[in-house]
Order: sequence, then C-alpha cells, then structure tokens
Amino acid sequence: MAHWYDHAIIYQIYPKSFQDTNNDGIGDLNGIRQRIPYLQKLGINAIWLNPVFVSPQVDNGYDVSNYFAIDPAMGTMEDMNSLIEDCHKAGIHVIMDFVLNHTSNQHPWFQDAISDPNSIYRDYYIFAGKDGKRPNNWGSFFGGSVWEEDPAGTGEFYFHLFDKKMPDLNWKNPEVRHSMLEIAEYWLEKGIDGLRLDAFIHIAKADLRQNFPTEDGNGDPVVAEPFFANLPQVQTWLRPFCEQIKQDYPETLLLGEAASANVNLAVDYTERRNHLMDSVVTFRYFTEDNSQVDKHYSDVYQPKTLDMTAFKQNQTVWQQTLAGISYPTLYWSNHDMARLRTRVAKNDIQARSLAMLMYLQRGIPIIYYGEELGMQNLQFDNESQFSDQTVEAFIASAKKAGLSKEEAIKMASLVHKMPARGPMPWNHDKNYGFSEADSWIKGQKVDNCVVDDQIDDERSSFNFYKRMLELKQEDLFQDGDYYLLSTDKNSYVYQRDLGEKSAIVASSLSDKETAVVIPKGYEVEKLSAGDYQLNDGKLTLMPYSGVVLMKK
Ligand code: GLC
Ligand code: CA
Repeated sequence: MAHWYDHAIIYQIYPKSFQDTNNDGIGDLNGIRQRIPYLQKLGINAIWLNPVFVSPQVDNGYDVSNYFAIDPAMGTMEDMNSLIEDCHKAGIHVIMDFVLNHTSNQHPWFQDAISDPNSIYRDYYIFAGKDGKRPNNWGSFFGGSVWEEDPAGTGEFYFHLFDKKMPDLNWKNPEVRHSMLEIAEYWLEKGIDGLRLDAFIHIAKADLRQNFPTEDGNGDPVVAEPFFANLPQVQTWLRPFCEQIKQDYPETLLLGEAASANVNLAVDYTERRNHLMDSVVTFRYFTEDNSQVDKHYSDVYQPKTLDMTAFKQNQTVWQQTLAGISYPTLYWSNHDMARLRTRVAKNDIQARSLAMLMYLQRGIPIIYYGEELGMQNLQFDNESQFSDQTVEAFIASAKKAGLSKEEAIKMASLVHKMPARGPMPWNHDKNYGFSEADSWIKGQKVDNCVVDDQIDDERSSFNFYKRMLELKQEDLFQDGDYYLLSTDKNSYVYQRDLGEKSAIVASSLSDKETAVVIPKGYEVEKLSAGDYQLNDGKLTLMPYSGVVLMKK
C-alpha cells in the first residue's frame, strides 16, 4: 500500500533563520506559519523542522533539555499546535527532528546523574574510566576527546560524541529506550507526520576499553568511527522503537540521518522486513576531489570541488541498489554543509541543472530553505561567528602556512556549515524582511537572492524549482524506473520509464559546449536550465545547462 511519504517532497526549514515575528532576531514557529502560502506556491508537501525543543542552544537545538516543550525563543506549544493544524489544512506534512543519541547537559536526567553517583539516571548516560584516567583515545566529532570529567568529581568521565555539553545517552539501558519512545509518541499523538532520527547510527558503541589503534598507540584523540557508527546493536535497539511507532501511527515517516552509511547499510536500514526506517540520508553521495588541496596546512576548510565521476557512480549505485527496496533521499545541501550554489554550482545555470538532475531521479527530494532562490553561504568576518573549535585550529594551521587570518576565515565561510544557516531573504525591507532586529546569526549576504524579486518572474530560480516540482509530481518521475545512459565525464544523462511514458534528463557538467547522443524520439521539452540544441538525436548542451525531454 502506498504511503504519503513515498511521494514526499520535503522542504527543510531551519526555524531560527526562516521568519521572525516578534522581532528578537530569531525565527519562530509563527513565522513558519505565516509563510505557509509561500511553501504551497513552491509546491512542496512536507516540511522538516530542525529541532524546536527547549534547549540551551549550544548546538542550535540539537542539545535538548526538555523534549516536552517548545523552546521559548521559537514559540509556545500553542504555536506548535497551530502550525501543525495550518500545515495540514494546506496539505503539508510536518516532520520533526528527533534527537535521540544525546541530550543537553542541562537535561534533568543528566543533572540528576551528576548530582548523585547513585542516581537511577546515572545509567541513562555513559560513565567510565577511573582515577582521572580516560578509558580510551576516541575523539569527538566536535574536536578533542569524547570523554569529559564527571563534574561530580568521582574520577570518572562521561561520553559525548558531539559537544561536551551534549552527553550521549546509554541506549543499552532499556529505560532509556523506553523513555525515548515515550517522547516520540507524545509528538506523534499531537499529529506530526514524521520524525527525522538525528545521528541514530551512533547509539551503539564498541567495548569502551579499546583504544582505536594508531601508530603511537595512545596519542591525540582520534575520531574512531568504526567504534561508534553503524554497529549491529543500532538495529537491535531501534527495531522495537520503530515497530511500535509504526503500529501506533502507521503513516509516520521515519527518516534516518545516516551520515556515514554506505548503500548496503542503507538497504539494511530501510528494507521493509527489517522494520526500521523508511528512508535514510547519507553524506556518501558527495565524494570530494582533493587534488587541488594545499598540503601545507589543514584541508578541513579548504574549498574542494566535487569529483563528478565519483558522484555519478555513487548516484547510480544508490539508485539501482535501492530500486524495489526503498526511496532514497535526494538532496544537495542541508544545515550541516555549505550551500549548493557555494559548494558545487559554478553559476546559476548549473545550480538549476544540478537540482533538476538530482530531484528528478527516483526518491524523496529534500530542499534546503533558500536553495530554491539560489542562495549562497554567508560571508563571516570573525572566527567567533563559526562557534567551532575546529575552525580555530584550521585558522592556526593556515596562518602557519603563511595565509592571513582573513583569508582563512573567507575560505571557511565557503565550506563550513554555519554560514549555510543564514536568514531567509523575503523582501527589500530592513534585514530582507526576516526581522526588524538584527539576526541571531551574523554574516554578510553575498548573493542577491530575494523572494519578492523572484516570485513573479518566470525566469527566476524560484519558478524553475516550482516547475521542476510540478514535474516531480508526475508518476513517471515518482515511480518510473531509472537507468543511467553511458556518456563521458562531461555530462550526466539518465532515463525514466513508466509503461509507455519515458523521459530523458540530461545535464552538462562541463564549462564547455557538450554533445551527447540520446535515443531517438525524445523531443518534447518539459524543463530546461540554460540553452541546448537538439538535432536528430544529437543533443548539444551549452555550458552547465540541462534539459528534460519527453518521448513523443
Ligand atoms: C546531526 C545534526 C547536526 C548536529 C548533530 C548532533 O548530525 O544534523 O547538526 O550537530 O547531529 O546532534
Ligand atoms: Ca522571534
């Protein structure tokens, strides 16, 4: 039986940056509500909100201190209820971000755990080590060790994969699993339609007594992915959680964030008989080309191009492997990476052509707010705007190699996730109509994308996305088969077939004119980005342009 989410077209909203209604510089739920007509016009049918629970905002909401209430900076429970209701009236489903691997250190469970070593909540978290000695050399994604001293002074440490103010939950403990299910069901009972399971692949950890093997055996902390990502217990522990949700709320979309999952794991996570997720988001789509990297300093925030051949390989493998299993997610950017137009697309034509290429494949599009306008990363001018210790380390390393601090900050602005979270530009009023107050996120806008300029302009990026999403809703692009046509590295061309219907989607990946031979009979243009010529099966694409052609 088909579910609504098989044909979902998701728009990702970073609530703090979408629309502020009470002029405190922070976007809020009422702001999203106010913009529902815009979302309808664009043609999406679901929104995914980054976390809106009560949070000290150490990691912009991914550090939750109360899962049963809305962060006051973003609104109230009543606002949330109204948002859900209004979205549903408009035919838009609501997906919430569900942070289940860790909590804030301000969460009452953690506060209790550190106030009394005999607290029942001690076992909600992962405490280990003794006499002030860390159990192992594992490193945190946010820099430094995963181990932080127990503030209670027991000589033990607690585990945190992300910020030290975000202690990991101990999923081994059945009480934790039960509590998290309770929270999920609380929100589903309110009528939300889906959960994005944040960082779920990390809930199981290997034996904590093992160091990750390195040459010197015990040096600086190392990010030991194989010891805390995709372990088999992730599935064992999440299965009852997912099964219960599907039993109680069968129309719930379970969308997992599985950053490092390869395609085989994606099969495991989404195959029906495994009773886990419906779809996962992998970061493995985007293989970078490291050949231009300057080896004299750290490469983390040096801009890299996408290795287009590897990208094509990855896409095809995901498309063909998940055919008949589940719908892959299709996306170009999110709050954890630089924006499409900054990271990959060389110009506006390419941004459109790449969007078309990605979203008309088989799967669920997830469009990051502002992408439909061609929005770029902000430009930061101060290292503190990144609030990230790994950026400080990058700047230090770049300075040693002779770069100025300004150059390093400029570089990091093109690569880092924070500048991708800029305010949505609605109009030409103060702060682009986002807020009368200065935005919570500082940084300079470098593009000239504004909703008001684009909305009625047929040639705008917004209207390109709108037409593309109309096309996406046709059954050919939802359920048709996919296969890649053999072309060289200068283009990406695939075919979609459903019964008698058939279309070719062709995109140039080159800055030169590119010719490809396509099967005869595809002549009806459905959508195009940039210019092309079609002559008796020979398709010539102008630099970076793309076209969708239907069989007559
Ligand atoms: C996920 C989120 C990211 C967050 C992390 C910790 O990867 O997408 O933004 O920092 O989890 O919750
Ligand atoms: Ca506000």
